[in-house]
Amino acid sequence: DHDMFTFDPGFMATASCESKITYIDGDQGILLYRGIPIEQLAEKSNFLEVSYLLVNGELPTAQQLGEFSHAVQYHTMINESLLRFFNGFQYNAHPMAMLSGVVASMAAFYHDSMDINNPRHREIFAHRVIAKIPTIAAAAYKHSLGQPFVYPRNDLDYCSNLLHMFFAVPCEQYSVDPVAAQALDLLFILHADHEQNASTSTVRMAGSTGTNPYAAISSGISALWGPAHGGANEAVLAMLEQIGTVENVPKYLAKAKDKNDHFRLMGFGHRVYKNFDPRATIIRTMCHKVLAKLGKSDNPLFELALKLEEIALKDEYFVERKLYPNVDFYSGIIYSAIGIPQSMFTVMFAIARSVGWVAHWQEMIADPAMKISRPRQIYTGPAQRDYMEMSDRG
Ligand code: SDX
Repeated sequence: DHDMFTFDPGFMATASCESKITYIDGDQGILLYRGIPIEQLAEKSNFLEVSYLLVNGELPTAQQLGEFSHAVQYHTMINESLLRFFNGFQYNAHPMAMLSGVVASMAAFYHDSMDINNPRHREIFAHRVIAKIPTIAAAAYKHSLGQPFVYPRNDLDYCSNLLHMFFAVPCEQYSVDPVAAQALDLLFILHADHEQNASTSTVRMAGSTGTNPYAAISSGISALWGPAHGGANEAVLAMLEQIGTVENVPKYLAKAKDKNDHFRLMGFGHRVYKNFDPRATIIRTMCHKVLAKLGKSDNPLFELALKLEEIALKDEYFVERKLYPNVDFYSGIIYSAIGIPQSMFTVMFAIARSVGWVAHWQEMIADPAMKISRPRQIYTGPAQRDYMEMSDRG
């Protein structure tokens, strides 16, 4: 008898939050960053400009973009002591474990003098996160290879600098392929923010306590890592390699539909989109162009992904449940084509999404009406009862 725990539908209304940053219409497959359609930003913008838009609310003037880009570039180096953290990891530590750990430790280096109520301090925090996470990500990759760390270079644009830190080695010249840098820039635009997804909600929840914002960002990295969320892009490539050929697709679709089987069609389905994920549509088109430009059009995994999508979207289980490819279904194909290993796919997602996390943290902290996040629950445990002496138990 739980009448004292009657469900109050009204409290669910307080479970969501207000934000001006991103709008999603899951039925129409609409995604807007500060009101601008993702399709237009993908076609006309670049990642740093989109970062400015998400964090500041408006597209920058040429001068504002120049100042923002310089501020981010100025912060790309990390405290040299941070690099020593990597020596504590085994070479095969998952890069997301290294990223979340080292980003959390930024709190010990860059937070002491920070007043989160000071807008200028919040702005510098944004520059530091956007600038330093790629450098930390590249260091994690170099550590996994046993190669020396490569320092950031201010003569390279954001994505070229990242690829240079990933792939350059001291013993020879390395030139970044502009096709790869451009493809990465577009993927970062598409992954930059997505409303109150699990990792962004985690950052908001942690940040609402007034905790160290670098620690809040690190909590977002941990949430993103899960295969149901950002970890899906890595899981999709593993799934495609496991399926191997088109002939095996029906067998794996059957596994995905079997409730007793843990197998899920990775890269399919979404909590909000019950139509196409607009980002998946853009990335699928992009795959064709990037693979052709990189001379890798005959990519067998891309062919298999296209076939898998075609077959699944004719299957009533997926059609009835409105399960469509999401942002993670095709992104790994492009990451692979530009040389990023599977183990780093979710790290790439984190680099892009760190902009959204910063934007949401800033929006929340700047709100004078902000309160600590404290979801309530529907209690389904035992009604009140008395303590039972040991002699009366069992
Ligand atoms: C991201 O929130 C965000 O915005 C996230 C994200 C972002 O940008 O931040 O968009 C990024 O995380 C994309 C999602 C990446 N995850 C995956 O691709 C993993 C595979 N997808 C599933 O695990 C699943 O679709 C979820 C986790 C994404 C959503 O799970 P839900 O909430 O259970 O999905 P649902 O309520 O729509 O499911 C309805 C039915 C259920 O079956 P029934 O109980 O009705 O019989 O569809 C089934 C689910 O079991 N189902 C699947 C499936 N996804 C849902 N069955 C097989 N394969 C799948 N992929």
